[in-house]
Amino acid sequence: MKAVNHRHLPRSLGLLAAGLGGLISGALLVSSFNAASTSFAFFKPDAVYPQPTPMQLKAILHYATAKVVPQQSPAEIRLSFDVLVSIAPCNFLVFGLGHDSLMWASLNPRGTTIFLEEDPSWVIGILKNAPSLHARPVKYPTRLSQADSLLSTYKSEPACLPGNASLRGNNRCKLALCDLPHEVYEKEWDVIMIDAPRGYFDDAPGRMGVIYSAAVMARARKKSGVTHVFLHDVNRRVEKAYAEEFLCKKYLVKGVGRLWHFEIPPAKSTDLHATTFC
Ligand SMILES: C[S@@+](CC[C@H](N)C(=O)[O-])C[C@H]1O[C@@H](n2cnc3c(N)ncnc32)[C@H](O)[C@@H]1O
Repeated sequence: MKAVNHRHLPRSLGLLAAGLGGLISGALLVSSFNAASTSFAFFKPDAVYPQPTPMQLKAILHYATAKVVPQQSPAEIRLSFDVLVSIAPCNFLVFGLGHDSLMWASLNPRGTTIFLEEDPSWVIGILKNAPSLHARPVKYPTRLSQADSLLSTYKSEPACLPGNASLRGNNRCKLALCDLPHEVYEKEWDVIMIDAPRGYFDDAPGRMGVIYSAAVMARARKKSGVTHVFLHDVNRRVEKAYAEEFLCKKYLVKGVGRLWHFEIPPAKSTDLHATTFC
């Protein structure tokens, strides 16, 4: 964090606004890669940029002085960074609250970024330092130990099949996140980041429901374009298997480290009777 390359800091406030996104990313990327010049490829010196948001200014201050940094690697962060820079302001849904949250919200200036977090006390802790984040606690009904049986049996429940799949109130399908905050169902999400809940011990909730529900959200999209879904920890068996079943290898556009990036199109009307997601 301390190794920000000052040669790249803008000289005037106007340029500061232009460089903000890059600065946040740069603080993360420069320290590891010492390759800041490539991080500013989107920066156009003659363009007129809007003023930085209060959230972005807070993020600069935070990450310039932070002792604890996000868990995703700089190269992984860069993957979502590039998408956010190209489509922001957008609707960005993030599963998991952490040391990266202020960065994600700042990379979507003037957009909507909502964080869903399994641990209510962790929400309170993070919001103490960053009260402007829009974070909500959520309960997950699954356990990681159920991952294999949920995957092998979901097709026998019609409410889980892609043609019928819905989320809000769909308590017949155990993979559907049917009880999320209402605001989650009321928007179409352009970018979905899955970096939670925890999925590394048997009693943890696992990411099965989140991966399934992200696929359902993406397939239900009415707006033009695709839904970008980022899934972290794809080195783990359950994340990989659920990604292949619901997010589909054919929609995987890039992978870096432990992060996969999918671009999922809306379902076609001819998919109405499909029995598989891919
Ligand atoms: C893989 S972590 C997400 C970490 C996040 N991407 C980051 O960079 O900080 C998934 C979950 O672990 C929990 N968690 C993350 N960091 C934590 C910490 N330092 N202490 C306690 N729980 C934490 C939260 O419940 C979070 O939603």
